[in-house]
Amino acid sequence: MKVLIIGSGGREHAIAWKVSKSPRVDEIYCAPGNAGIEEYAKCVDIGAMEFEKLAAFAKEEGIDLTIVGMDDPLVGGIVDVFEAEGLRVFGPRKNAAILEGSKAFSKDLMKKYNIPTAAYENFEDPEKALAYLETAKFPIVLKADGLALGKGVLICNTLQEARDGVKSIMMDKKFGTAGNTMVIEEFMTGREVSVLSFVDGKTIRTMTSAQDHKRAKDGDQGLNTGGMGTFSPSPFYTDEVDDFCNQYIYQATVDAMASEGREFKGIIFFGLMLTEEGPKVLEYNARFGDPEAQVVLPRMKNDMIEVVEACIDGTLDQIDLQFEDNAAVCVVLASDGYPVSYEKGFVISGLENFKDKEGYYVFHAGTKRTDKGIVTNGGRVLGVTAKGKDLKDARANAYEAIKLVEFENKYCRNDIGKAIDEA
Ligand code: AMP
Ligand code: GLY
Repeated sequence: MKVLIIGSGGREHAIAWKVSKSPRVDEIYCAPGNAGIEEYAKCVDIGAMEFEKLAAFAKEEGIDLTIVGMDDPLVGGIVDVFEAEGLRVFGPRKNAAILEGSKAFSKDLMKKYNIPTAAYENFEDPEKALAYLETAKFPIVLKADGLALGKGVLICNTLQEARDGVKSIMMDKKFGTAGNTMVIEEFMTGREVSVLSFVDGKTIRTMTSAQDHKRAKDGDQGLNTGGMGTFSPSPFYTDEVDDFCNQYIYQATVDAMASEGREFKGIIFFGLMLTEEGPKVLEYNARFGDPEAQVVLPRMKNDMIEVVEACIDGTLDQIDLQFEDNAAVCVVLASDGYPVSYEKGFVISGLENFKDKEGYYVFHAGTKRTDKGIVTNGGRVLGVTAKGKDLKDARANAYEAIKLVEFENKYCRNDIGKAIDEA
């Protein structure tokens, strides 16, 4: 089989590594890819949003299966373009990727189908949003409706902050058209957990749980980022929580999408908040999380190609999804200054230390091959994942392993997985 992966981050590196383990795969391509993905795949210089070019490439090369890693192309309808060309592709069509592409849509869906989530109102008119705030309780959460690189969510502690937020999202269009509509939502407290799942339109199979660390600095301080590290499983995701989510959230979401004529095939990522009233949905994503994929995929026992094909063919009910009885921790090595401003182009040394090191992985996020060697080329540079017999062991291993790679301005959080001490 020839497989094409669309994307260029640590998530796509983890997908490429996992796909390379399948005995059914002969060749892997990745567009546009990065310097780490090159170990498993031929990187092709076509952007993830160039759907026609990508489809033409897939036809020319005789690609048997395309896996889309990123949200932007999914929400933009890449799957529809590939399907129209008769190409086999894994991911939701445009009418289903809206589950991630529009927060207003997903909130209305949850309300209509009684899926637990925070109370909210949607607004298209900034004046109405401002008027609503006058009687609101604080803190309150403002969300730009569309994709905003994970930055379109503002938690506002005061009326003034919220007024400023409405102004920046809806009037100044800080996140562009993503802010044409805004969700104003009740603030929830509790532990956050990410549960990713495979979906074939009818059946859903959830993967092992994970927890992300979104803020840039230790102690969950600093700005929101794409994610600074993850651990899996989450000790807070108990059997009781799992039972509740199975009963009220997971299948209910898949069925709701089908009832709306928006059959969902692909990955649904449930961002959950474990509140005192029970688990509630914070958000949906229509793809693997990054860095969640970097801890979940290394623990998955199944051949990923078999699971992906079952999703496309509607036979997921025949798959028994299995995960190793261990734990994994991923520490993101970023460029100092991320997510605001940072320098690029520093040589990375020590990558070879991970070669054939069982249970350790270095997934590339922002790297580039130059004649000086592999250099830093982004805010999040590498994800270093280590497995262990339990979470504490995995955490110790990950923090040992980050010493194996060096680059100027290397920055990471020192408290990834600290929460497990409270479990
Ligand atoms: P989202 O992109 O919707 O997951 O939001 C990003 C982050 O903002 C989440 O991971 C939470 O930490 C926080 N957040 C979002 N919605 C809420 C809410 N209703 N209450 C409290 N925190 C929230
Ligand atoms: N790590 C969060 C996300 O991928 O959206």
